[in-house]
Amino acid sequence: MTAVKIAPSILSADFSALWQDVLKVEEAGAEYLHIDVMDGHFVPNITIGPLIVKALRPKSKMFFDIHLMIENPDLYIEEFIKSGADLVTVHAEPVHHLHRTVSLIKEKGARAGVALNPATSPAVLEYILPLVDLVLLMTVNPGFGGQAFIPEVLPKITAVRKMLERCGSSAEIQVDGGINRETAAAVVKAGANVLVAGSAIFGSEDIAAAVRQIREAAEG
Ligand code: DX5
Ligand code: ZN
Repeated sequence: MTAVKIAPSILSADFSALWQDVLKVEEAGAEYLHIDVMDGHFVPNITIGPLIVKALRPKSKMFFDIHLMIENPDLYIEEFIKSGADLVTVHAEPVHHLHRTVSLIKEKGARAGVALNPATSPAVLEYILPLVDLVLLMTVNPGFGGQAFIPEVLPKITAVRKMLERCGSSAEIQVDGGINRETAAAVVKAGANVLVAGSAIFGSEDIAAAVRQIREAAEG
């Protein structure tokens, strides 16, 4: 099994002291910085845009993992990449031409991820899997931090792991939503290797300890 990566979601960080919170998770050894972008259309919440990504970029060496929960992502992909995104993940549900969108991300120089809501079948990935660097399986319905983990997604994690093995892909499987010390082991056992956690990390008194505890739980 490949090593587990921890991706703190800044959605639950202190926005009045954002870069200091980023520094805390970087110093704690978290690998990816998960940045949730919401447009008030695809999901009923509005968060941050490329300006914030650009402002954080010189403050951190972390891998910037941008989770776009927006309609028409093609309009914004280049700007996010210019602002410092290392990986751009789009949702399959609002995108009409997924192959085109994934190709655009690669063409503009970032890694490409595809996210699926809990109810979305992984069949949509079948013919684009060779282009994809990361599959994000939502373990809550996207839009808010602090929601409860949806266990029905576990078999989908295993199904996607098998799909990747069948086509010889080294793409990562990321899970997002309700990940904490209690749920980490089950998602890794099912086949995930990148764990997003927002409230379990930034809601903790000791951010470094929270990162460590999730990693320990994940690695068993
Ligand atoms: C939800 C976001 C998540 C969110 C996770 O739509 O995509 O990244 O921050 O928050 P927790 O870890 O609190 O469930
Ligand atoms: Zn997210």
